[in-house]
Amino acid sequence: MTSSATPPAIGGYFEIDMGPRTGELYTDAFRFQSARAAFTSLLRHVKPSRIWMPWFNCESMLEAPAAAKVEVRRYSIDENLYPERLAEFGPADCLLYVDYFGVCGNQVARLLNEYPRERIIVDNSQAFYAPAPPCLAALYSPRKFFGVPDGGYLVTRVPIEAPEVQDVDSIDRIKPMLVRFAEGPEAGHSEAKRANLSLKGQPPMAMSALTQAMLGHLDYAGSLRRRNANFEELNCALASVNRFPLPASTPPGPLCYPFFTAVDGLHEWLIEHRVFVPRYWPGVRGAGGIESDWESTLARRCVPLPCDQRYDATDMKRVAGLVMEYLDAHEEP
Ligand SMILES: Cc1ncc(COP(=O)(O)O)c(C=O)c1O
Repeated sequence: MTSSATPPAIGGYFEIDMGPRTGELYTDAFRFQSARAAFTSLLRHVKPSRIWMPWFNCESMLEAPAAAKVEVRRYSIDENLYPERLAEFGPADCLLYVDYFGVCGNQVARLLNEYPRERIIVDNSQAFYAPAPPCLAALYSPRKFFGVPDGGYLVTRVPIEAPEVQDVDSIDRIKPMLVRFAEGPEAGHSEAKRANLSLKGQPPMAMSALTQAMLGHLDYAGSLRRRNANFEELNCALASVNRFPLPASTPPGPLCYPFFTAVDGLHEWLIEHRVFVPRYWPGVRGAGGIESDWESTLARRCVPLPCDQRYDATDMKRVAGLVMEYLDAHEEP
């Protein structure tokens, strides 16, 4: 870091090589250490009477209204992942909607036509390539898409106060990413979990200098093309057996290819074959608080198949082949 009184450094040992400078994708955004920190700052500024949040979401997002002391109301989503009618939505309330898996752009568009858009916050943590819609705000969490240790963007016209204190913990959070390179994914797995946990319960801070530098050296256009091509490859192979409500055309650079099946055990089968699929989100319940709630079923039955920029058509064929092999051997209930 340099202050105005310190001349820029020339010479000495090298920084890690990050490749050509490309510039960040969201240059006008407020920069934080995480999406939930961005959400906290927004809520503190806007002070809605209540924030409506989906049952189907990452639990960490509840940290924000707790820290900002905003009352939370929860809502259910239907089989198209669209919010059930909110008869009690008040003029001073806000609503958070998630562009799930980066494939729910149509639902976002519909929401903005049915609710006051200046009260809508779109959580694009799973939709890095979805531009911020014309609404109160959009949130982004770049580490779910790229090899960066943390970070959160907030795109809004609301003049929130940017945090003064800057996060300095990226240097620790980057360690599992280096271990993955050196020793493979299994070796860094528990460290990666710890790195994720270290973002919990933190006050909003400015994005670290390291993360911001890394975000300025990514091939955004190339990654977008690769994600789209990989998504299409999986869709070609699996659309006929996938029960997930996908849009008719390929969404922009989705997080993954969400595959919904009534067959148990696909997550475990894929992991056994070193296709590491996460769970969004274990333990989630809906309004009923029981396992048969739609949200809970979605969490158990939806397998997010990787389609990111690290992979190509050969990898996608392997993933689709494993899925088909498992389905062929297991009857749907
Ligand atoms: C949809 C969604 N929104 C927000 C978050 C929180 O993002 P961050 O860890 O950057 O605060 C998560 C969880 O990781 C998420 O899955």
